[in-house]
Amino acid sequence: EKYGVNINGTDICELRAIDYADENGHYNVVEYLLQNGIMDNLKEDSKFLTSKFPEVKLFSKSINSYEDLYNFSIENNEEFWRTLALNRLEWFKEFDKVNNGLDFNDYENYEHKWFINGKINVSVNCVDRHYKKNPNKTAVIWDKDEPGTEQYVTYSELYKLMNKFSNMIRHFNVKKGDSVIIYLPTSLYAIAAMLACARIGAVHSVVFGGFSSESLASRIQNCQAKIVITSNQGVRGGRFIEFKQTVDTAIETCPFVEHVLVYKRTDNPFQVNKDKDIIIDDIIDTFPDECEPEIMDSNDPLFILFTSGSTGKPKGLVHSNAGYLLQASLTQQLVFNYDCEKDVFGCLADIGWITGHSYVVYGTLCNGGTTVLFESTPTYPDPSRYWQTVERLKINQLYLAPTAIRLLIKHGDEWLKKHDKSSLKCLGSVGEPINVEAWNWFYEKVGEKRCKIADTWWQTETGAHCITPLPCGSNDILKPGMAMRPFFGIQLALMDQNGNESDTKHIEGMLCIKKPWPSMAMTVFGDDQRFKETYLKPYRGYFFTGDGAFFDNDGHIKITGRVDDVMNVSGHRIGTAEIENILSEHPDVAESAVVGVPHELTGEAVFAYIVLKETQKSEQEIFKQLKNLVKKKIASHAIPNTILVTPNLPKTRSGKIMRRILRKIASNQIEDLGDLSTISESNVIEEIIQSFRSMS
Ligand code: WTA
Repeated sequence: EKYGVNINGTDICELRAIDYADENGHYNVVEYLLQNGIMDNLKEDSKFLTSKFPEVKLFSKSINSYEDLYNFSIENNEEFWRTLALNRLEWFKEFDKVNNGLDFNDYENYEHKWFINGKINVSVNCVDRHYKKNPNKTAVIWDKDEPGTEQYVTYSELYKLMNKFSNMIRHFNVKKGDSVIIYLPTSLYAIAAMLACARIGAVHSVVFGGFSSESLASRIQNCQAKIVITSNQGVRGGRFIEFKQTVDTAIETCPFVEHVLVYKRTDNPFQVNKDKDIIIDDIIDTFPDECEPEIMDSNDPLFILFTSGSTGKPKGLVHSNAGYLLQASLTQQLVFNYDCEKDVFGCLADIGWITGHSYVVYGTLCNGGTTVLFESTPTYPDPSRYWQTVERLKINQLYLAPTAIRLLIKHGDEWLKKHDKSSLKCLGSVGEPINVEAWNWFYEKVGEKRCKIADTWWQTETGAHCITPLPCGSNDILKPGMAMRPFFGIQLALMDQNGNESDTKHIEGMLCIKKPWPSMAMTVFGDDQRFKETYLKPYRGYFFTGDGAFFDNDGHIKITGRVDDVMNVSGHRIGTAEIENILSEHPDVAESAVVGVPHELTGEAVFAYIVLKETQKSEQEIFKQLKNLVKKKIASHAIPNTILVTPNLPKTRSGKIMRRILRKIASNQIEDLGDLSTISESNVIEEIIQSFRSMS
């Protein structure tokens, strides 16, 4: 019999009942339930299954709800991930063990190892297998900056381009394990470059195009990349962005860079450095369109992505091949109820962020879907851009950041009315807490009360969604502004002020994750110690996310925002310390303190307090110089919105800046400061309040 149920005694009977196989060797009830809307019709599905395959016994504890399947995924965690990994991914060699069994308790020795001894290639999973089955299916729709100039790319075309690209970078001596920096606009060549690296086992690090040459240089140095892939220019919002120039400046301090591979996004001329520059367009077609994929271990690094933390320079988080790909693709499909055969997935993030990696590129392509690459802005050429793109490309799932929603609300509802949004089935929000007003507008005006919203919480560190409702295609309940519930296999904990795990109802605390999950970052590139100290040390036995959360009476989760010194401006993470370090470089600045304050459009805005030395310069002149400095050294999105000069900064006895108080003042919550007379620094605080009042 092909469809056998393997029941091995009483204890594991429940477990084994899900483990029956089809002709291909892999198929099981969990997978079936996951793919067919978990919350609805489970009883019906069970009936169908048992009638079709009478030998299948469903677990005696029947799965009838999200809770049942969630509990199953926690109680049988290895089994859960094992069956999914076998069913969903194509392996050269299957793994022997799901993971190494380590948890976060002995964090000094923690090693992230999943799907041990499995051999796999991500590009084969994302392209080859779909190309073989369905060569003419659209893999990518590149929605270029100028509306109406979109380019459709089939799996066959993507396969060939990726392979030529792979052969090309191999030709320039890139080998398995080498780092490659990708500094490209969201474009077809960016996807090809990422997949090409994955194919030959090179570790890519995509740097967001908004970062300055100094930020880029520090990332190139950190990875010791031999190759930088860029374009002559980018085109965004009708304007040209000088990618190549930024790279040229950056590599002045990176003599080890052997080649800069340049893709011509525009016809405009640019400076070519004969020693190093290679023009991709001139040579790519000379390379064969077949390229043998490298056989990668599950736990080989797939990419490095830099992100800001509360201290020091941004860290390069390293993601694995197998675990990352599994959870990115599983969530892409389940959370958005994505129909891999037909749907057009519109994740509008830049590929330079983790959202672009997991949901524009890897998750969607691994599922054989059609992904939209959005090169433009929400307001180019006018604020109807998103809606006309939905209509033009017939997008079925729209996934974006609350900042964009708030911006578009300001422009008014007229822009929405002209466009047919009936293709939309499901909406998603990511990157920052979504306020109730934005949620309601998204639901009513964009989704026309027909599409539900998945408010997905996750991080660069988590690789894929960890908290989200599963609203689409089911009757899962929703509460505006709430990320609701842990995804399958994810166990959360809330820690109280004393560092103890608290009950998970009606309580606010620090959000932690209890057990490792497949798509968790493996380490910080070149600094495993920092990884452990940042994430595993603060609460022994737990992974600390840096976010605060509130669990309501039903145990549903609301993310309240960062509890560390990380700000979130328009969904972009910035460390307060990163900006302070730069402000303090200015010759007239004695000291500085940066805090995030609520902002109606960008979620948070950067507010800088500075203490000046004796100077002849005017404050306005200094402010201008400081803003330029931040732009030059980091990026435009890190520029302080407000700078306030104060005579002093309040500090604790051990010399720490009292940020909580500074944040309250900057947010104009002065009455919340309580009785100042008990604070030793009360005079300093009074002075700051004075300065704040005279400013506003
Ligand atoms: C925040 C982006 C509230 C959070 C995927 C997290 C959110 C940081 C949500 C990670 C959400 C992300 N609700 N806050 N749905 N999603 N965040 O690494 O503070 O760029 O720690 O990853 O964004 O930002 P990152």
